[in-house]
Amino acid sequence: MEQNIELKPPVEVRYRKELDALLAQDTGKKPMNWKLSPKAVRTFILGSAKPLQWNGEELHIRKKYLGNDALVERCIITLAGNRGLMLVGEPGTAKTMLSELLSAAISGTSTNTIQGTAGTTEDMIKYSWNYALLLARGPVREALVPSPLYVGMEQGVLTRFEEITRTPAEIQDSLISVLSDKVLNVPELGEAGLLFAKPGFNVIGTANTRDKGVNEMSSALKRRFNFETVMPVRDVAMEKQIIVNEVRQLAGESQIDMPVDEDVAELLASTYHELREGVSSLGHRIDRPSAVMSTAEAVSVYYQTMMTAYYYGDAHMDIGCLVQNLMGAVQKENKDDLEKLRSYFQTVVRDKGGKEGGLWNSYYEARKYLK
Ligand SMILES: Nc1ncnc2c1ncn2[C@@H]1O[C@H](COP(=O)(O)OP(=O)(O)OP(=O)(O)O)[C@@H](O)[C@H]1O
Ligand SMILES: [Mg+2]
Repeated sequence: MEQNIELKPPVEVRYRKELDALLAQDTGKKPMNWKLSPKAVRTFILGSAKPLQWNGEELHIRKKYLGNDALVERCIITLAGNRGLMLVGEPGTAKTMLSELLSAAISGTSTNTIQGTAGTTEDMIKYSWNYALLLARGPVREALVPSPLYVGMEQGVLTRFEEITRTPAEIQDSLISVLSDKVLNVPELGEAGLLFAKPGFNVIGTANTRDKGVNEMSSALKRRFNFETVMPVRDVAMEKQIIVNEVRQLAGESQIDMPVDEDVAELLASTYHELREGVSSLGHRIDRPSAVMSTAEAVSVYYQTMMTAYYYGDAHMDIGCLVQNLMGAVQKENKDDLEKLRSYFQTVVRDKGGKEGGLWNSYYEARKYLK
């Protein structure tokens, strides 16, 4: 087994071939310091209709974000302008994924990131000091430890700010002057302390609407961003496709040699869709669980079951195991949600089993694990 494989390679490593191919064939107009043109960035995220010819092979650019193509276009255009981009939405709607794809395609790096937490300080947003060097040499540039924001301005690349509303509002506000004047002052460095942002710099923030109210953003800061709301996928076929694509990718990266069972993916996609919407395809009204029924959760329920089948089982998806993983995911926030899941099985799954048989019947039988 190779030792130098990364557990989760960054987007620019994962899709190096696609990015190289797009770069080589990119003829579109480019904002200054962008690696790819807005057209090519769009193709990278939304896929290409025809495969590209690259190094003598056909390279298919897979659609990575499914749902709202216009949203992706607006995001790209925002980043070319002088306002930041703020992606807001429910958990698990691919806000982080989108911001990584955008950064990798536009700046060639997706790892220039500030992670917002209750403990994020102004130092982490602006700069701090290497105290040994500071004592030895005084306040010189070499003694300064740049933050991802500083690096973004200095190199003209995007800075991602994850979960910005988890950061106290007064700390968030240190972004305001940087976003409006595009300059950061380091008073300790004297005259050399003014850092003017290079073209290509911008900020992509993400914020979770479930966390709203934890630390609201000030309206001054809000005005420096264009907001885009990323909605959950509302189409079963699309949700199934996301599960299939993502699980395939995860399995490939973990060398799990097992095909994705499309029927099981569809079953899971229907369950997530119906519990989220509160109504079944047969017209039942369903009590919605308070837990977030996100596509990201559906992907991980499938993948968990797949790994169990791969390592302990016969490399076939076990529906009993799927139901147990589903139960874990649904009841983690509120114990009452288990009752809602049970009643979903007693009504919707039972009726679908009666109507469609097959997998839905096995699913119904597996309700015995819901305790
Ligand atoms: N519309 C979509 N297209 C493609 N993949 C999706 C979509 N929605 C969800 N996913 C899947 O779910 C994952 C979403 O995870 P991600 O961490 O990006 O969500 P998030 O919105 O940042 O969530 P959180 O608010 O919890 O941080 C993706 O990696 C992908 O596997
Ligand atoms: Mg996220």
